[in-house]
Amino acid sequence: MAIKVCDEKKIFQINTPNTTYLMGVVKDKYLGHMYYGPRMEDCDGLYLLRAPQGEKADHFLYKKNKIGFMDSFSFEYPAWGTGDFRDTCLKVRDERGYDTCELAYEGYELMDDKPALTGMPATFAGKEPAGAAQTLTIILRDRLIGLKILLRYSTFEDSDAIIRSVVAVNEGTQKLYLEKILSACLDMDDENFDLITLHGCWGRERHTAVRRVSIGKHIVSSLRGESSHQVQPFMALTTNGTNQKSGDVYAMNFVYSGNFIAETELDHQDGVRMSLGLHPDTFEWVLDPGASFETPEAVVVYSDKGLGQMTRTFHNLYKNHLIRSKYLHSKRPILVNNWEATYFNFDTEKLVAIAEEAKKLGIEMLVLDDGWFGKRDNDESGLGDWQVNEEKIKGGMKSLAERINGVGLKFGLWFEPEMVSPDSDLFRAHPDWAIQVEGREPSMGRHQYVLDLTRQEVVDYVYESVAAVLRSANIEYVKWDMNRSLTDLGSLALDREHMGEFSHRYVLGLYQMQERLLNDFPDLLLENCSSGGARFDAGMLYYSPQIWTSDDMDPIERLSIQEGTAMLYPLSSMGAHICVCPNHSVGRNTPMETRAHVALAGTFGYELDLTKLSEEDKEKAVVFNKEYHKYNDVVREGDYYRIASYQENNMYDCWQVVSPDKSESLVTYVQVRFETMRKSRRLRLEGLEPGAIYQLEGTEQTFSGEMLMNAGYLQPMLHGDYNSILLHFVKKN
Ligand code: GLA
Repeated sequence: MAIKVCDEKKIFQINTPNTTYLMGVVKDKYLGHMYYGPRMEDCDGLYLLRAPQGEKADHFLYKKNKIGFMDSFSFEYPAWGTGDFRDTCLKVRDERGYDTCELAYEGYELMDDKPALTGMPATFAGKEPAGAAQTLTIILRDRLIGLKILLRYSTFEDSDAIIRSVVAVNEGTQKLYLEKILSACLDMDDENFDLITLHGCWGRERHTAVRRVSIGKHIVSSLRGESSHQVQPFMALTTNGTNQKSGDVYAMNFVYSGNFIAETELDHQDGVRMSLGLHPDTFEWVLDPGASFETPEAVVVYSDKGLGQMTRTFHNLYKNHLIRSKYLHSKRPILVNNWEATYFNFDTEKLVAIAEEAKKLGIEMLVLDDGWFGKRDNDESGLGDWQVNEEKIKGGMKSLAERINGVGLKFGLWFEPEMVSPDSDLFRAHPDWAIQVEGREPSMGRHQYVLDLTRQEVVDYVYESVAAVLRSANIEYVKWDMNRSLTDLGSLALDREHMGEFSHRYVLGLYQMQERLLNDFPDLLLENCSSGGARFDAGMLYYSPQIWTSDDMDPIERLSIQEGTAMLYPLSSMGAHICVCPNHSVGRNTPMETRAHVALAGTFGYELDLTKLSEEDKEKAVVFNKEYHKYNDVVREGDYYRIASYQENNMYDCWQVVSPDKSESLVTYVQVRFETMRKSRRLRLEGLEPGAIYQLEGTEQTFSGEMLMNAGYLQPMLHGDYNSILLHFVKKN
């Protein structure tokens, strides 16, 4: 059994294949965090709680100086108000206006399963026995206000991740107002940690940032209504010198797509508290007597083998227990998207011409992006009017899909369902459906407003208008976009008391729409997107097996973007396309091979005007498409290793995937800068079978796995900047 409880000592031990998590109760009351680290069978670690011993200490510390105890104890789930002045996870106000809360241990439950969450994405058990799940629920209670708190911890037999969520149940007689309820906390001792987070902006998402954890609070958060370009709902604490292969890592990632806060606090007593959850600044929830509230899930991972192992734990968890799409384990169709090829300037004939060219090159799907509906000739109008613009698409969507299918390609379509343009029939009919504060003109972003998804009639209307288009034609793929942050947070339909629920309710409305879409169109391949990668998070991955990583497709920019994204998310989930040169975002010229090699690390496709490609580039495209079919199985299903980072060395980048049976490995090397007189680069590979012999495809060269991993492969310099190479090692029988 993965989870063990010592009833007598009130110790809880959660074991995963390689890790152990320990909690204990002191004074029959306070639940404390004891240990998180390498797996142990011994759980007798109550001393780790530093609980006051003996009668005197007892009297002094629990009574006369309770604050001293409360402010230093390693709480498993700290609550605000009775002496813990660090970052706490829970703040509840009662009808009288008091906001103190004191949680006492009450009991626990164990189940051999993993409960789903209501209306939210959640990890799930996989195929047994490897995917079997267990869940421990610890029950805490504030007796005065009648608040019951359930702390849930789930594990899967095949994963080192622990999944946490919290439920608050009002078992009292008065209304309670939840003002802060985070999903997970780790209360540890300082170990001179570094903090790793992922940051960026439009076109530069998820660059890795490392900082020293010094005294005080370190907060990363989003208040934009989406997980955001700016920061990823993730933080990792690492011990000194941690690298890809060694060092301790404590990481948290949020299975959520809206506002969040991730906090790390180093306090004056050398305690380090790390927590993650819904951002309290845009959150309040009314709990009527008898009602309950469930937080989103947080994934917690410990690795004693550096960041590489943390990454693979996240990847495997998401592949085996979160991404539920039937396309997860299949090659996705190679697509061509017309956005950067035409922007808003297209018609049926242009699209068919692109499709015909695509077919000749081995591309499998045409995706029609923004501009096919309403009056949408630029980004100033039309959002919300999801009726085909027959001036551009003569004969309508069915006819276009038939023509594309007739060429031999699948057909996919772009939507931005959450938005409305002020210049649209929808807005003219329902101005109150936009998110707004009564009497204040809402701020626009990209000339558009956001629809109020907290209102069921809005969700129903928008969902139906999207579904009607999908029913009208053979549309096999949808790109669901979202192109601005949320402001003017308010709904004309929510009363004063419930207005604080707005931000979370918006996300629940979004999840409801995506859930319905998948239920009604079970064969649909869904790709989420948000101005590039502003909503690349574990929440959206529950609905779509792939997410558009960034609008910037320049392969050099993509190195850091994809490195940061792949730190958490499987390569099979990263939308990646070959762009035209000079690149539209940064104006850089790069070899087509490099653009292709970088895009082959993701879902793969094209975003350029194929009718304008030179004959030479067309020939290359044929080769890349064959390479996609040849390598995608190992890219999609393999284990990922980060070998070198351009973000760190400013010279070159290298990553590797190894098939689960270790019979083949694909290494991608990108030499950003060429320098004369440099020796060849030594690439120390990972994950191979030490005793096996591998042949480098296209050569007679053979190497033992051991040699490639310890001595390394010597990659000669490639002449010129921005060059790249794929190295395919295949095990000889
Ligand atoms: C966003 C997306 C792009 C494209 C445009 C269309 O920016 O990220 O890929 O779909 O919208 O307006």
